[in-house]
Amino acid sequence: MVMGNCLRTTTQRGQEMKVGSIGRYLMFAGAASPLGFAIVQDGKQHDQAISDYAAKMMREGRDTFRSDTFGSEAFWGGQVRLHEAIAGAANGGVGPGVSPKAALSLGIKVDMNAVPAAVAAGIKAGTVDLNDPKNTVALLKANAVVGVKGFFAGDRLRSIGITCAFCHSTTDDKFAPGIGNRLDGYPNRDLNVGKVIAAGPNLKPLTDMLQVDNATVLKVLNSWGPGKFDALLNLDGKAFRPDGKPAATLIPPALGLAGVNNHTWTGSWGTVSYWNAYVGNLEMHGSGTFFDPRLDDPKKYPVAARTRQGHTVATNDRITAKLPALHFYQLSIPTPKPPAGTFDSARARRGESLFNGIAKCGSCHVPPIYTEPGWNLHKAEEIGIDDFQSTRAPDDRYVTTPLRALWDMQKMHKGGFYHDGRFAT
Ligand code: HEC
Ligand code: HEC
Repeated sequence: MVMGNCLRTTTQRGQEMKVGSIGRYLMFAGAASPLGFAIVQDGKQHDQAISDYAAKMMREGRDTFRSDTFGSEAFWGGQVRLHEAIAGAANGGVGPGVSPKAALSLGIKVDMNAVPAAVAAGIKAGTVDLNDPKNTVALLKANAVVGVKGFFAGDRLRSIGITCAFCHSTTDDKFAPGIGNRLDGYPNRDLNVGKVIAAGPNLKPLTDMLQVDNATVLKVLNSWGPGKFDALLNLDGKAFRPDGKPAATLIPPALGLAGVNNHTWTGSWGTVSYWNAYVGNLEMHGSGTFFDPRLDDPKKYPVAARTRQGHTVATNDRITAKLPALHFYQLSIPTPKPPAGTFDSARARRGESLFNGIAKCGSCHVPPIYTEPGWNLHKAEEIGIDDFQSTRAPDDRYVTTPLRALWDMQKMHKGGFYHDGRFAT
């Protein structure tokens, strides 16, 4: 026996040790406490813990969505120096600056609840000069600019970062056009992201990444237009379609996604949480960790493969810990309902029976999520459009867009339908 024990291999001994510690663990976790009481969580307490957790996730997630830059100021301020262009030479920056009027005309929105009362009164009375960039800086200081966060040294704007709300919130214009209460999850279809970035005094981070010259980067940024952004350019470097049109897509609504599997316009990236990590790291240029070895494919994703974007590791990860609550908040944003009295319900019911009947729309847009439960992707030829955008995604397919608030052409679907707005109605 003693001999036998001595002849055991280390692996066997290792396994034996593991079994031993699992056994001890099980005794504590499942069977009985050291004092002999059975440990079963109180069901009422568990219910309460679930409710408390949901409320906390909601608060934290909303805060992240609206206010967290993930450290992206190191890129937009530190490298692109956008804050200098916004402030203008008169306020410690460069150039003429961006006045509140110019910012609003680029589609940037202002949260009326964060505008100091005196400033709001001044705007109404016409005594606050909306042509003076100094007042843009003041609005940033009051944290009133939706999705843009200023960082200050005294009154001097020293950097800016962006948040999810920059592209995925707008306002209800209750105060004035572009100034109102926040509408989280709505796409900002007025926002000219390309023109905003193009204002940056230093586009070298982009020319370096894409390995093209400054003029080419400017041409691309200026091609997008309002409500559009290209969330895949940093992977494949494809700025234009074969027909010469911009490769940018519409900013989609980031709401009504609970129960929806594949999201974004094109398919099989991952869950909403995958996409949040993707955007936080690779689009917003926050400081975090992101892993996706699919991006190592040098044919499909030459830029990402060269710059190793699928292996992003930050020493100070400011994104990963925010993902759970951010995911939770996004899935909590419902699709807005059409206001009562704005449609003829008898005709809508006839349309519904067509939709689910001979028109067969409901075979893909399955109510009430209006996309397929399961693998909700289709080849371009199945839906009768070109495959340019779909082939930029990992498995070359379009997502069955969940149909959300199609009646809202003012904000939600301003700029048209399908991924690039090719259909006006
Ligand atoms: C610069 C603009 C911009 C910013 C900032 C941005 N997004 Fe997006 N978002 C887009 C665009 C464009 C798409 C569509 C991408 C595609 O399909 O190729 C998108 C897609 C999405 C989708 C999928 C929506 C759907 O209907 O399938 C979600 C969810 C989303 N973004 C959440 C976020 C979150 C959360 C953040 C912050 C971490 C964020 N986005 C930041 C532009 C932006
Ligand atoms: C084979 C599956 C399939 C069928 C059947 C189908 N759709 Fe779609 N639908 C899609 C896909 C995929 C998209 C996304 C296209 C894109 O983004 O370019 C889409 C997009 C849409 C959009 C645009 C949504 C937006 O937010 O831009 C509308 C509206 C729409 N479909 C309505 C319909 C109607 C009405 C029918 C029936 C006449 C129908 N669809 C039948 C798959 C389908």
